[in-house]
Amino acid sequence: MSCPQCQGIETFFDRREAERELRSYRKKGPSRVTKVLLEAIRAEGVDGASLLDVGGGVGAIQHELLASGASSAVSVDASSAYLAVAKEEAERRGLSDRVEARFGNFVDLAPQVEPADIVTLDKVLCCFDDVQQLVHLSSAKAKRIYGLVYPRDNLLLKAVLPIANLYFRLKRSPFRVFLHPTAVVEALVEANGLRRTFHRKSGAWQVAVFTRAPA
Ligand SMILES: C[S@@+](CC[C@H](N)C(=O)[O-])C[C@H]1O[C@@H](n2cnc3c(N)ncnc32)[C@H](O)[C@@H]1O
Repeated sequence: MSCPQCQGIETFFDRREAERELRSYRKKGPSRVTKVLLEAIRAEGVDGASLLDVGGGVGAIQHELLASGASSAVSVDASSAYLAVAKEEAERRGLSDRVEARFGNFVDLAPQVEPADIVTLDKVLCCFDDVQQLVHLSSAKAKRIYGLVYPRDNLLLKAVLPIANLYFRLKRSPFRVFLHPTAVVEALVEANGLRRTFHRKSGAWQVAVFTRAPA
């Protein structure tokens, strides 16, 4: 992958971090905000649905929604370590034949990715600079439901993020974090014909679910 942030992702989300997250997921289940997103998606109905999880990490969303009745899941992730760990976990749960993993930057891979009933990006927008392309291309793939967990664009986070990025710069890491305006994200999703039907703030995060009216 050529983009500088993709190189940062590969070094930041490494095997050690992936295994730490998997241990936490096995012990405590999905994170608090991920649980909020999952409940909001389940409320829309997931039986037999296909899932596209962009930046799925260790696979919490795919494992949980497949257990809730979704039929299949495709995970696209720019971290090879996360994908490997998610694959091992899917095997352990006997879900291998229902999941497919693709390694790379979703913005590059989008033309080769099939649309899905449900598309999710859980804590992904904050790790990627090109929000226009990432949100436009991923929301275009959502046939029914588009779910996001991303940072609130409040004053506290606006102050904290540059400090985090200074820390990465001093460590000579190419990884950076990003705070994209809520209005920009929502306008991109709505331009693809989806309407926000669920929204909740939780600490530094906001959870938003958008749905597409049946044709
Ligand atoms: C903070 S982690 C979140 C992982 C998981 N969704 C969770 O909530 O635990 C961000 C994830 O997004 C992935 N990611 C960020 N930008 C991406 C992109 N453009 N294409 C594919 N994956 C991306 C990273 O590789 C990483 O797995």
